[in-house]
Amino acid sequence: MNSDDVRREFVRYFQAQGHVHLPSASLVVHDDPSVLLTAAGMQPFKPFYLDPARAPARRLVTIQRCMRARGLDDDTTAVGDDTHHTFFEMLGNFAFGDVGAGGYFKKEAIAFGYEFVTQRLGLAPERIWATTWAGEPGIPADDEAIHLWKAVGLPADRIRPLNRKPEGGRENFWGPTGDSGPCGPCSEIHVDLLGRCPLGASEGECGPDHGCGRIVEIWNLVFNQYYREPEGTLRPLERTGVDTGAGLERIVALLQGVPSAYESDLLRPIVREAEGLLDAPYGEDPVVTRSLRIVVDHARAVTFMIGDGVFPSNAERGYVARRLLRRAVRYGRLLGREGPFMGRLARATIERFAPHYPHLKDRQPVIERVIAEEEARFSQTLAAGLQLLNGELDRLARSGEGVLPGATAFRLYGTYGFPVELTEEVAAGRGFTVDTPGFASELQAARRRSQGGSRFSKLEELDLPAVAVRFEGYERLSVGDARVEYLRQGGERVATALAGDPRPGPTSNGTTAQGPAETPAPPAHGAALNAEGSGVGDEVWLVLDRTPFYAERGGQVGDVGWIVGPHGRFSVRTTQAPVGDVVVHIGQVVEGYLAEGETVRAEVDAATRQATMRHHTATHLLHAALRAELGPHVHQTGSLVTPERLRFDFSHGEALTPLQRQAVQGRVNEAIRRNLDVRTDVLPVEEAMRSGAIALFDERYSDAVRVLSIGDVSKELCGGTHVRHTGELGTFLVIEEGSVGSGTRRVEALAGAAAEAYVNRQLERLDALGRTLDVPTEQVPGRVIRLLGELTEVRRRLEHAERKAAQQGLHAVLGQAQEVAVRNGSFKVLAAEVDRDSAPTLERLREVADWLRDKLGGPSVLLLATRSDAGPQLLAAVSKDLTAQGLHAGKLLNEVARAIGGRAGGRPELAQGGGGDASKLADGLERGRRAAQAQASGEGA
Ligand code: ALA
Repeated sequence: MNSDDVRREFVRYFQAQGHVHLPSASLVVHDDPSVLLTAAGMQPFKPFYLDPARAPARRLVTIQRCMRARGLDDDTTAVGDDTHHTFFEMLGNFAFGDVGAGGYFKKEAIAFGYEFVTQRLGLAPERIWATTWAGEPGIPADDEAIHLWKAVGLPADRIRPLNRKPEGGRENFWGPTGDSGPCGPCSEIHVDLLGRCPLGASEGECGPDHGCGRIVEIWNLVFNQYYREPEGTLRPLERTGVDTGAGLERIVALLQGVPSAYESDLLRPIVREAEGLLDAPYGEDPVVTRSLRIVVDHARAVTFMIGDGVFPSNAERGYVARRLLRRAVRYGRLLGREGPFMGRLARATIERFAPHYPHLKDRQPVIERVIAEEEARFSQTLAAGLQLLNGELDRLARSGEGVLPGATAFRLYGTYGFPVELTEEVAAGRGFTVDTPGFASELQAARRRSQGGSRFSKLEELDLPAVAVRFEGYERLSVGDARVEYLRQGGERVATALAGDPRPGPTSNGTTAQGPAETPAPPAHGAALNAEGSGVGDEVWLVLDRTPFYAERGGQVGDVGWIVGPHGRFSVRTTQAPVGDVVVHIGQVVEGYLAEGETVRAEVDAATRQATMRHHTATHLLHAALRAELGPHVHQTGSLVTPERLRFDFSHGEALTPLQRQAVQGRVNEAIRRNLDVRTDVLPVEEAMRSGAIALFDERYSDAVRVLSIGDVSKELCGGTHVRHTGELGTFLVIEEGSVGSGTRRVEALAGAAAEAYVNRQLERLDALGRTLDVPTEQVPGRVIRLLGELTEVRRRLEHAERKAAQQGLHAVLGQAQEVAVRNGSFKVLAAEVDRDSAPTLERLREVADWLRDKLGGPSVLLLATRSDAGPQLLAAVSKDLTAQGLHAGKLLNEVARAIGGRAGGRPELAQGGGGDASKLADGLERGRRAAQAQASGEGA
């Protein structure tokens, strides 16, 4: 069987068992912050194990593209051997919930696995072995799995329970991915390659865990029956699930009788390309062969990563891509290749895999470009870095030291872009180690420096070209032929910035995902898409040689809009000028890609910009009006001008009176009605000052400055954008006035449509209020005042009534007192429930008891109960002279409490208690009353 046959058979088999086939999700994990890259077929389905109802179907089958190259993963360093790959494809079948709900568990998973490998892959049953979870304290062994393997026909001596890997860690307990998630015992299917132990061990000694290479694992069946919390505790899952994974590479090699996937139809074409490019024969010398394998593995991984929008960078996923690409380049150098070769390998990879992953073809230009760019950049630094490193190692050798300092490794990283792993490898090749903890602390210190550093020094690191950007935004809002000078994405300068995957995933019932295995499928499915369906969350920075976009400055916010290129569309979220006059458009590529050197159309969102301009001109008018009303001591201390509103801070000692506020607003509106001309003159700075223009204190001005004059009302130095005539402002409205520190006031105001919208909103509210109150709007204030008066009166009456009712209630309680005759006279017993309104708490019940005792006069026994929020509350009080005769409040109340299942206790005169069944209160109180009688007659005491 070739690899296409395996793909097809796998999907067909599980479709026949009721599974829905979904396409592979992206390598980029969007919804699980503890995971960078998809490392198993189940990753996109994690939520479904907790909530099977969310799954598009209870049975799914996928061939998922995966990466395992994190940190110091064994897989990274083992790459180059027969079985380890960074990028690989995982065949998997998944079930959520039990058979009754459409899913399944161990029995079916084992039966399917066994049937598929023996019937569909045609592996002889005698070659099949299985391992199961042997258990450990707290997690019982999976004896059920042993039993189920026997049931499908596997002899007991080919079933091995395991729980420890020879190199440490758990065997046969899988998951979760990331810091939390579903996990559980697993059972692996292994295949005997050789028929007997190459080391000569007996049948009983040899087996899947022998390490002799005779028996290899091909498929892992995970039985998710636990959920691991982030802090490590395991709790049983309410509904069990199944997650399986079989490496396509390993199965294909096995079926084709070759040592590894590199010799199989899956990777052979790329290996052949690498052999030619690097002029190195595969399969002769083991070192050369391993190098070729690493180059091919990493080229494939990087191709798929970039295809999913992961660009080489110094952070997270991007760093994985960078490391892999640079490592591949270095292995190329080891084989003697000086020129670039990775782009060609990417092309060969795309050719080989596009039939199953058509998105690679769409992105081919971008993938090749990014790879070529990164490779070229790395080549330049590699030579210099290696020279430095070798010089340093020579020096260490001379002084007899064996450890390369962390600072040197960091210098290689920071200046030459050497991944520390590369430094380690070169050092190890010459018998040295690297002080990696030292490297890590250098790295941390550098990160802290860059975070705490000034804005400017951070931006110097941007690698920005010294372009002279022409700002044309005073005259026009659109420029048709600007050139892309610079792009930055994922924290790195790039030649091409790419949009996320714009194609939608399948509908939630999974119907678009069904079909035979060879049907090209979109590269992502619903579970792995973020809200926008975007594959790339990275912000892009873009610099043009000329632009109509105004960069945030002087309180005016940066422009928003669009930049449209021949292959894509860029949405500008804001515009900034972080260094000098370089205007940086910040936003996202929302369609296709943009590339350096392209000619593009830059278009400011006109409505937004006009709203901003209105507020800016209004700010100047406000400034002038404040000076006219309050005096020339008024100076601007800060401002914010946005499309939605303006904020103006100025020096002034006290709050504006309502009259001053109205006058200021009136002056601005008067200037608007006069429809004054707004004029800009560019003048030498001295001349501008002489003309009496107001300059801002802390602003630095260049030789020639822009002087903005509004009729005869205002003259200020200003680099912002403005309307041509004040009439364009329409209207002006002060909505807030307050203090922002001593001697400084702040006014917030609206102009134009924003002011109109504000007024409309207020009018609507007033209207709605009038309708609710059922009066014309002008009568709303009078009506509200009247209603408030009425409300006060009603409240007063209500309180009065409540007090009265409570008293009446207590009078009724009082009426329940009974006279009990004893030898030397009589006393009163009152056993009653006090209603909750009169005594909502035990505290109140005590007050009520005092009142009742007072009213009863002479000697008395009170047994009272109420139903509080916390359940029944009980209280007993016995007059002093009665306690002398043997009556005991605590004991009496205990009778009551016992009857209702509560608790009570206390002294002879006073006791309290609570709890129990409120419905039994009447009975309990009656018992208490009888007990009091009995005690008084000397029976119970
Ligand atoms: N998720 C399981 C694994 O990766 C199948 O081994």
